[in-house]
Amino acid sequence: MTKVGILLGSLRKESFSKKLAANVASLFPEGYEAEFVEIGNLLLYNQDFDDENNVPSEYTTFRNKMKEIDAVLFVTPEYNRSIPAILKNALDVGSRPYGASVWNGKPAAIISQSPGNLGGFGVNHHLRQPLVFLNMPILQQPEAYIGNVANLLDGNDKIKDEGTVKFLQSFVDAFVDMIKKYQA
Ligand code: FNR
Repeated sequence: MTKVGILLGSLRKESFSKKLAANVASLFPEGYEAEFVEIGNLLLYNQDFDDENNVPSEYTTFRNKMKEIDAVLFVTPEYNRSIPAILKNALDVGSRPYGASVWNGKPAAIISQSPGNLGGFGVNHHLRQPLVFLNMPILQQPEAYIGNVANLLDGNDKIKDEGTVKFLQSFVDAFVDMIKKYQA
């Protein structure tokens, strides 16, 4: 079983990112398990926590979880044209202590979303910058900027627009192909 960890850039109860991600999770083929990884309980990263006698238990749980994960799917809104702090915090927590990063070599893919037209273009590309440094191969094509997200979901939070489902399926298929390459 290949495990795909889904990291969200929003903690909001009615988050569009979360609803979108739940739809995308169902598009993975047999042999893949896509699961949400909790990052909302991680204290703001502080380098003092690198001291092995001073590590918050939530950090350890998160790092152990990420070590079981084969690939990472980021689904995120854009905050002020950039990365929501919650997501950047999780990247920082997972990157330390030095030399023990949980991210190294893990394939990643990014879906940005917005109720607006631009689909989170800014966050989609800002997020790529730390992922390069963290040595995560990133899916290049197709790029996923999901705009006008509020209009895409039906009353059961399912994507009602057939074209969007088709597009997201092609995105997942490309991500799966990429994951396979890195597993070979
Ligand atoms: C936003 N929003 C927003 N939208 C956008 O397209 N570009 C942006 O730069 C911002 N900036 C921004 C900053 C902050 C602090 C908030 C709270 C919101 C709007 C945002 O896209 C909208 O609230 C989404 O619904 C948030 O995603 P979730 O929580 O629905 O997943």
